[in-house]
Amino acid sequence: MADSTRRFQAPKGTRDFYPEEMAFRRHIESTWRAVSIEHGFDEIEGPAFEHLDLYTVKSGEGIISELFSFTRAGGDVPYALRPEFTPTLARMYASRANSLPVPTKWFAIPTHFRAERPQRGRLREHVQWNIDMIGDPSANADAEVLATCIGVLDRFGLSARDMRVRLSHRDVITLALQNAGVQQPAMQATFELIDRREKMGQEAFQEQAMTIGLEASAIDRIEALARTTADASEDPCTILEAIGVGADAGEPLRQLQACLEAYGLLDWCTWDFSIVRGLAYYTGMVFEVHEATGSERAVAGGGRYDNLIELFGGPPTPACGFGMGDVVLGLVLKDRCGDSQVDSMPGPDAFVICDHDDESMLVQRILASLWKHRLHARRSYKSTRNVGKLLADADRCGARFTVLVSSDEPEGSVVLRDMQSKNQESISIDQLAGCIRSRLSATGD
Ligand code: HAM
Repeated sequence: MADSTRRFQAPKGTRDFYPEEMAFRRHIESTWRAVSIEHGFDEIEGPAFEHLDLYTVKSGEGIISELFSFTRAGGDVPYALRPEFTPTLARMYASRANSLPVPTKWFAIPTHFRAERPQRGRLREHVQWNIDMIGDPSANADAEVLATCIGVLDRFGLSARDMRVRLSHRDVITLALQNAGVQQPAMQATFELIDRREKMGQEAFQEQAMTIGLEASAIDRIEALARTTADASEDPCTILEAIGVGADAGEPLRQLQACLEAYGLLDWCTWDFSIVRGLAYYTGMVFEVHEATGSERAVAGGGRYDNLIELFGGPPTPACGFGMGDVVLGLVLKDRCGDSQVDSMPGPDAFVICDHDDESMLVQRILASLWKHRLHARRSYKSTRNVGKLLADADRCGARFTVLVSSDEPEGSVVLRDMQSKNQESISIDQLAGCIRSRLSATGD
């Protein structure tokens, strides 16, 4: 095939959003936005690409190996498409730290780019809802962030039977690993290995554990951590005993438990010390949200990152937050809730049809007037003059009213048909928009 007739395909791991897919994506995004605002978060956004070193400073090997990095044509400054939002948020907070409220509560719904191997639940471009609470070191902040995450799951019609919030704590894991002989320089690599453990075979896990220099006792301890789960209502100290960590480390878990109880969230949560999070910047409570049977990858993940803002030149500032991606969430929603979640494309308020050759461009004039009155108005582009067929067209697109421009009507009038009651009447064009508007508000449409 000659180059000029070559058919282009979207790059691997990306998606085209045709109207139905876009309606579903907007449904997800508008639910994220509504729940964020209800929980007191303000929306922000940053650039889709940043200086490369923003990510190499503290995101961790996992993310660095998946960067799309580039220079501009003729330039030599290295940039990268954003693989996650947290470094941008930390940079933005650091540059205005003195004038921002305490706490600062921000949300964002950016697209992210990761050069991962595309597979179920993992693409090279995804949309990720970010919730972050900055400036508050308390367990209440952790619980408020979790309440917002669970608030969204609930709004989508998911329940504590459908989803699990798996809670853990970096300090507890660090202590458990230190007690098993893992030295500090190997700690981050060990976190990343534990983070990938569920996705790799036993053999690959053993092999990589040896590569980073873990002793057999450390590998046994990681296996024990992975088996240690309990309802979040259980006393955390009992669970710590099971992984060889002293009860002192249980205090932050107890505080978190008390706050989660106050917000009524314990039902959704499980203590699960197989969760460590791969990203390098987490410092305290960490969590992941999974579909309850464990059949999909994580829907969301996050935790506390108390050192990151300082690293970007801000004052020492505690922070916590999470990201929830649209890909796995979309799979779970379609699986659990079926098409009821998908069909959210609004039909027009008015659909304009004409039963004759419209030489005076009345259809255009009516559309212009309806649009000016902020009504959602569409027209038929079919060449047929058969009113039955044109009405079927109006029905198909879910129109609330049809406006028929008819040669049988007196000049200056059209037929207005209510597509629900099927009643129709002759109405003056001057009154048309006002009449549709008042009927829509009378029926609450
Ligand atoms: P993350 O665990 O890397 O965390 O991503 C959060 C969520 O984004 C994942 O649970 C998953 O649903 C989705 N996600 C990540 N990568 C992909 C991918 N390649 N394809 C589809 N979905 C994906 C972070 O990014 C942290 N920055 C979150 C955070 C915000 N922590 C604190 N504040």
